[in-house]
Amino acid sequence: MAKVLLRPWRNEDAPALCRQANDYEIARNLRDVFPYPYTLADAEAYITACLEGGPRQLCRAIETDGVLAGSIGLFCGADVYRKSAELGYWLGKAFWGRGVMTEAVRQLCGEGFSRFDIARIYAEPFARNTGSRRVLEKNGFSLEGVLRQGVYKEESLQDYCIYALLREEV
Ligand SMILES: CC(C)(COP(=O)(O)OP(=O)(O)OC[C@H]1O[C@@H](n2cnc3c(N)ncnc32)[C@H](O)[C@@H]1OP(=O)(O)O)[C@@H](O)C(=O)NCCC(=O)NCCS
Repeated sequence: MAKVLLRPWRNEDAPALCRQANDYEIARNLRDVFPYPYTLADAEAYITACLEGGPRQLCRAIETDGVLAGSIGLFCGADVYRKSAELGYWLGKAFWGRGVMTEAVRQLCGEGFSRFDIARIYAEPFARNTGSRRVLEKNGFSLEGVLRQGVYKEESLQDYCIYALLREEV
């Protein structure tokens, strides 16, 4: 299996981030806030947001065998949701199918539960996103619900899932 390293973002990652992220096959599985096409300016803005995001988020670059392969982040909630954090991730297509995201999610959940006073980490993959659902299941996440027609993407309604992992389940 490929060696997976999670590390803080660096400004000089922007060109490689842009190269990996600029892919319709990635964008179609994410919220519209993730742009397609994905420009160098988008990459620079994302890295700036990560570097200035404050103590309630954990954004990491995914490196595989020394190469920037993708992105993963944990974002703590506010108000009554402050004991939960949302997990999001994507991987450049060249790196799919090698267990990289399964390992990245394992590492980030471990770090998230030790760094933050949270009870739960959750993710919201589109229901058709078999690969992402499997990544979560392999990390012990439970399917808590399917939100029927909860997403409107590319002019069509689709279902999405809520998966969660509790602190005591790690
Ligand atoms: C979803 C994604 C993160 C998976 O990353 P990955 O590193 O390729 O996943 P892994 O190699 O760790 O695979 C984990 C499991 O999912 C399965 N899997 C991965 N992609 C799959 C696919 N497209 N269809 C069916 N199963 C898939 C693998 O076979 C493996 O299961 P197994 O061990 O039982 O065989 C990656 O495809 C991606 O970035 N997609 C686009 C963006 C995205 O969907 N982000 C998540 C939004 S919620």
